[in-house]
Amino acid sequence: MDLYEYQARDLFEKYEVPVLAGIIADTPEEAKAAAEKLGGVVVVKAQVKTGGRGKAGGVKVAKTPEDAYEAAKAILGLDIKGHVVKRVMVAAGAQIEKEFYFSVLLDRSNRSYLSLASVEGGMEIEELADERPEALAKIEVNPLTGIDAAKALEIAKAGGFDDELAPKVADVFVKLYNVYTGEGATLVEVNPLIQDASGNIIALDGKVTLDDNATEVRHPEHELLDDKDAADPLEAKAKASGLNYVKLDGQVGIIGNGAGLVMSTLDVVAYAGENHGGVKPANFLDIGGGASATVMAAGLDVILGDEQVKSVFVNVFGGITSCVAVAEGIVKALEILGDTATKPLVVRLDGNQVEEGRAILAAANNPLVTLADTMDAGADKAAELANA
Ligand SMILES: Nc1ncnc2c1ncn2[C@@H]1O[C@H](COP(=O)(O)OP(=O)(O)O)[C@@H](O)[C@H]1O
Ligand SMILES: [Mg+2]
Repeated sequence: MDLYEYQARDLFEKYEVPVLAGIIADTPEEAKAAAEKLGGVVVVKAQVKTGGRGKAGGVKVAKTPEDAYEAAKAILGLDIKGHVVKRVMVAAGAQIEKEFYFSVLLDRSNRSYLSLASVEGGMEIEELADERPEALAKIEVNPLTGIDAAKALEIAKAGGFDDELAPKVADVFVKLYNVYTGEGATLVEVNPLIQDASGNIIALDGKVTLDDNATEVRHPEHELLDDKDAADPLEAKAKASGLNYVKLDGQVGIIGNGAGLVMSTLDVVAYAGENHGGVKPANFLDIGGGASATVMAAGLDVILGDEQVKSVFVNVFGGITSCVAVAEGIVKALEILGDTATKPLVVRLDGNQVEEGRAILAAANNPLVTLADTMDAGADKAAELANA
């Protein structure tokens, strides 16, 4: 889960990383009130989960509360790389002397942590890595020993900080590393980390990615950080039912078991769609091994809730879960859904107890259900029905 800047700021504060005061606002009036409360020069900042807000006009300096009102009015509703701004943060204005860069992240390919640091911050890190790679230090961090004072100093020196600055930023690196491990993050990035006119080191921007796998057991409080409104409503519903669902842009709903089978089902349906008006798969949905009636019903419910969907292709290979259980699941799911199930279903079953499974579906004789013998035939039928 990626956090908004204001959420990252709050976490930083909890770990004593130096940050500036910030107040969130959802309307220009609230932004004005926030600016009055903060006093002095403020910066109005778009809260969207993407970088480059400054360049896109999403970060504006406001000298008076009236300016803050106007800035918020201009920023709210702005589309930044496909993210529409619904909220701003009104932050105290800093007098920037120098801008630096620091991050620590999970380095999956090396099964380790990696820290990046540079005395030349402010611009986008990809640009810096491209244009002046020698200015960007990349230091491996042993997860067992982490970033202590000595390691932080090593990172600062490698990043080009001089003898006066290095100990000051190193202190902040240690605190940022505490955020990283303390919160179960996979990324903590500060760009820019600044030195202000009085010599203070301050984290002026923050990007934090939390490990979703840490939420359930170690960090149940992270659930509160999840912005459910920003998620696609169908994806949110699927997530609430514990389903592995990704919304796509087509007309043929897909249910399968096993990520590999579902991926190839998407391909086969897209291919079949070329002969049927160009229909495409509407989603990825892997119902996993135990394709029980409740899971099947939850999956169908999500897919049928997608207005673009015109037909559904259920493609299941019975392994540990036999086709009998899957067939019973489909029949019960259609019972559970009742009148809300209105779109045609093409079902292809194969594998363990396939004959018995097909017999169950045939006996149920639901007019919405068509049985297919092969994956290709099923995909073709589902695409044809979606285009009807
Ligand atoms: N509180 C602040 N006070 C003064 N300048 C700021 C403040 N916040 C951001 N800026 C300036 O705006 C630039 C962009 O802001 P930042 O938060 O890094 O957004 P993004 O990385 O999305 O462009 C910063 O590099 C900094 O120069
Ligand atoms: Mg930034």
